[in-house]
Amino acid sequence: MTSSARPRPRRSRRRSVHASRVALVYDRWAGCYDASPNITRDLDAEVLRRVPLDVAGRDVLELGCGTGKNTAWLGERARTVLGLDFSVEMLARSRRLVRAPHVRLVRHDIRRSWPARDASMDAVVGNLVLEHVRELGPIYREAARVLRPGGQLLLCELHPERQRRGGQAQFTDPATGRTVRVTAYRHTVGEYVNAGIGAGLRLRHLSEWLEAGALRDAPPRLLSVLFERTRDGRAARPNARLRGRSVRRSRASPTGRPR
Ligand SMILES: C[S@@+](CC[C@H](N)C(=O)[O-])C[C@H]1O[C@@H](n2cnc3c(N)ncnc32)[C@H](O)[C@@H]1O
Repeated sequence: MTSSARPRPRRSRRRSVHASRVALVYDRWAGCYDASPNITRDLDAEVLRRVPLDVAGRDVLELGCGTGKNTAWLGERARTVLGLDFSVEMLARSRRLVRAPHVRLVRHDIRRSWPARDASMDAVVGNLVLEHVRELGPIYREAARVLRPGGQLLLCELHPERQRRGGQAQFTDPATGRTVRVTAYRHTVGEYVNAGIGAGLRLRHLSEWLEAGALRDAPPRLLSVLFERTRDGRAARPNARLRGRSVRRSRASPTGRPR
């Protein structure tokens, strides 16, 4: 048999989920994720509770639900919650925390098509998860697909300015005492906004968050964006000229002294 005729090994869904290094690192983090001090995690919980997101009596899909700190809160309010995460150990913890028939927690890599029908959700919520996802476009497109007209997408992420200064999801592994940094990708504020517009969603609100007691000139810790699927359900047409990279370089040659 020639090499071109050799059947290709089948990459099953299950195997590629297993193969994700990020999922394996979160498996290790799961044991101490809730217990160790983490300002970003705590501020994120506050953001979810403060933004104008309408979840009471609604169908909600949560991306990267982790140990369930936000899932529990959503579950107390929503009609149904579908939580997705690809870390077995993070999911095991959320399943222990949230035991309710209307909350379904599913092992799933959110970079693949989501296990939800078109226009079946009122809200999609993702907290501290997109830092681990290289391509934002498919995530926003899936959100636009599963949202009902008028449905909301809330994303809350480590602020790009923090990332630029070296901020990244990380923890001290109790087994080794070593700091483990989880693979992360940098997205600019413009990318978080324009990927939503590109998927036909309308931006309703953008906020930058800093914890109480932070130094006055500290950069914001978190960025949140709240989008809505238009009421008529029709995707707004993205402006082709404005698509692409969000940080655009000036065409003019720089003059004057650098500051
Ligand atoms: C920092 S934790 C945040 C958990 C929770 N949202 C919170 O705010 O506490 C990130 C979570 O996203 C999950 N995650 C990262 N990339 C993912 C992917 N591609 N598919 C599914 N889950 C993912 C991780 O397994 C982890 O549980």
